[in-house]
Amino acid sequence: MGPKAYAAVLIFALSAGAAQAQAIDPTLAPGGDPAHGEQLFKQRCSTCHQADKTGKNGVGPLLYGAYGRMAGKEPGFTYSDNLKAATFTWTPEKLNQWVQKPASLVPGVKMFLPPVTAPKDRADIIAYLKTHSTNVVAEAPPAAKKPAKKAATKKS
Ligand code: HEC
Repeated sequence: MGPKAYAAVLIFALSAGAAQAQAIDPTLAPGGDPAHGEQLFKQRCSTCHQADKTGKNGVGPLLYGAYGRMAGKEPGFTYSDNLKAATFTWTPEKLNQWVQKPASLVPGVKMFLPPVTAPKDRADIIAYLKTHSTNVVAEAPPAAKKPAKKAATKKS
């Protein structure tokens, strides 16, 4: 590779990195696979989190039951002020954003992780967390679906 090509690759890598650090991908891939999510959780989350019913808080709060629960409410864990004061529920949408960039959802949080960039990986992790909770979250209606057609307006 000549020096010019090198420079091009470097610039590409730098700009891709910058874009990755900023943009939040709202994509929620369908059909998350909890078994693969468990592997990802072990690799990417388990240094700080446990998710089993009998687990406990560590560097991060216990995540058993976090899916579908209000954020910042695991007993005995010392959250950052902003997460502690949060009033939203951990829906798939919120989790999808959180694992990409926690501070984009709650400023001043103290969780840092390399962004989970692949939509399918995020869906798998969310599916895994879903199996470690008894909470139910109303699924967001598919964006493509329009509300049922209103009775045809009469032409006069
Ligand atoms: C380096 C440690 C670390 C890693 C790695 C990490 N977390 Fe966290 N996580 C934290 C900390 C610390 C908090 C609490 C943040 C605060 O209070 O601001 C947290 C909070 C959370 C919460 C909010 C829980 C609640 O009770 O509201 C969720 C959900 C979560 N993490 C999911 C994940 C997932 C999924 C991964 C892996 C993709 C992950 N975390 C990786 C440290 C980590």
